Amino acid sequence: MEKEILEKYKKAGKINAEVKQEISHMLKPGLKILDLANKIEGLVKKKGARPAFPVNISINEVAAHYTPSFADTREIQEGELVKIDIGVHIDGYIGDMAFTYCSQPNHLIKASEKVLEKAIKIIKPGVSISEIGTTIENSAKAQGVGVIVNLTGHTLDKYVFHGPPSILNVKNNLDHKFKEWDVIALEPFITETNGHVKNSGTVEIYRYLMDRPVRLMEARKILAMARDEYNSLPFAKRWLYKKFSPIKVSLALRQLGAVEALETYPVLKEIENKPIAQSEHTIIVRDKPIITTKPVE
Ligand code: CO
Repeated sequence: MEKEILEKYKKAGKINAEVKQEISHMLKPGLKILDLANKIEGLVKKKGARPAFPVNISINEVAAHYTPSFADTREIQEGELVKIDIGVHIDGYIGDMAFTYCSQPNHLIKASEKVLEKAIKIIKPGVSISEIGTTIENSAKAQGVGVIVNLTGHTLDKYVFHGPPSILNVKNNLDHKFKEWDVIALEPFITETNGHVKNSGTVEIYRYLMDRPVRLMEARKILAMARDEYNSLPFAKRWLYKKFSPIKVSLALRQLGAVEALETYPVLKEIENKPIAQSEHTIIVRDKPIITTKPVE
């Protein structure tokens, strides 16, 4: 990896860590998640980076892909598991990091942190998806908890926030081995017993897929923004309200969805409504792995 690129990965990851630190005092029951999202995304920009995706603030049985809507009134409640997944990029080089907040001590959160730590410990050139999956599942079991079976870690590349292959959080026989300088994100999702997520109807996050002819002027403008301004990385519906009226946003997104110009990210929920905790770091594969989102001073 070129030195310049490595520096960008490190800088992005450092901003993930700083943002987490700087918002930690805000996290308490009564906080509006829309205010939290605006604060986080504002800090990312203030620090000279861009969001690699809208901040995901997914609560309890919601695993991922929830970002507040434009007029979201939801507040953090006592005892809720609030998963905060932050993406930061510098010129397309991404730091992807998540943690879980709860107003009370919670064993699922502790378990997710421990499981992630165990998995990171085995990262080195040549480590396989099968070894990572086994380590994660075994370490969850050892703590008496389970994982979300159909959510995975992933690789990262320039402007690619979820690259292949998927890094399973369960035992598997995928012998794909990671090489030195691969950039990966590990993100175990922890539940009481093994669980599964499925799509719910809500969509707040979209991403550019391809140019398509659409009639509405706003749809054409939004598609161009998705491609050029957001660099084909995911964006939030609420970001569009700065430039377009709610009615035009809805019409445009419907048109763009219908012709598959945009990808949609439906909110993912645990099928039995089991509460979930998540921990995630971005790691550069080396004999001594670099955890970009947990910089050592
Ligand atoms: Co991730």
